[in-house]
Amino acid sequence: MRTLILGAKGQLGRDLMEVFAARGAVKGCDLPQLDIADEVALQPVVEQFAPTIIINAAAYTDVEGAEDNLQDAFLANETGARNVAELSAYHQIPVVYFSTDYVFDGTKNAPYVPSDPVAPLGVYGESKAAGEAATRITNARHFIIRTAWLYGPGGNNFVEKIIQAAETRPKLRVVDDEIGSPTHTRDLAEATLALTQTEAYGTYHAVNAGDCTRYNFAKEILRLTGIGSTLDSCASSEFPTKAPRPRYSVLDASSLTEACGYEMRPWQEALLNYMDRRKVLV
Ligand SMILES: NC(=O)c1ccc[n+]([C@@H]2O[C@H](COP(=O)([O-])OP(=O)(O)OC[C@H]3O[C@@H](n4cnc5c(N)ncnc54)[C@H](OP(=O)(O)O)[C@@H]3O)[C@@H](O)[C@H]2O)c1
Repeated sequence: MRTLILGAKGQLGRDLMEVFAARGAVKGCDLPQLDIADEVALQPVVEQFAPTIIINAAAYTDVEGAEDNLQDAFLANETGARNVAELSAYHQIPVVYFSTDYVFDGTKNAPYVPSDPVAPLGVYGESKAAGEAATRITNARHFIIRTAWLYGPGGNNFVEKIIQAAETRPKLRVVDDEIGSPTHTRDLAEATLALTQTEAYGTYHAVNAGDCTRYNFAKEILRLTGIGSTLDSCASSEFPTKAPRPRYSVLDASSLTEACGYEMRPWQEALLNYMDRRKVLV
């Protein structure tokens, strides 16, 4: 197995690099050396490394910023995805594209399955839905993996933001009307490895098991760190954002388990593991 990982310096990219290195040669690329929106730059990288699979974890991930920078979001998330899918199709190898719970509008009130219709609320979700579609029609050998609420090494993620806030403020307020599936990038990388050992191409959801509100997620983070800040819950209307977020975006990962046997552990266990890892990471 020769794995080309795009977006290798991102939080998911870093864990993919480690997990796939155990199965053969791995090459990682990221900005500023390689922009996936630049197909002319991408082509020689693929030709020289001759991967047997390309994993596209590169993305414009600033949900708020995307509202003002639509073109940048679509360049990375749609044009980039199409370029990667075209090159992988040309070389007759599979491609992995990661997508998001933000392709859904949050009105379902039951865990979303991969076949549920997408209806993104904001630009980021729209650009990721467009990237999914581009990948799907361009390379039949695709794994589109939707995930959610990611945290991992080096990321400016919710876990790190809560810890930073708690270290500097005695009192925190966190919204309790957004429900989702917190997911450790390590677990997502392992699930990706398991899925890519099969030829069960298609669209999947990969999130840690269980769900919670942002408030309950923050509560567990503080419990594990032992930081004594007071935590209060509040409504998302108290923190207006440019990008509308789905109120309920829990993903059902059962089709992933059926396809490759990999079972995502409960989010609390995965978070505990991340807390242990960050002791050496930070
Ligand atoms: N983070 C989440 O909560 C979340 C939730 C659901 C789904 N996802 C999806 O999961 C995947 C991984 O997310 P992540 O949290 O690991 O993201 P991340 O930490 O932001 O990493 C993305 C990486 O891609 C790079 N990148 C951006 N545009 C690029 C381009 N045009 N060409 C090459 N590289 C580019 C970024 O570089 P710069 O840092 O220099 O921009 C960064 O190193 C993405 O597809 C994302 O949409 C994330």
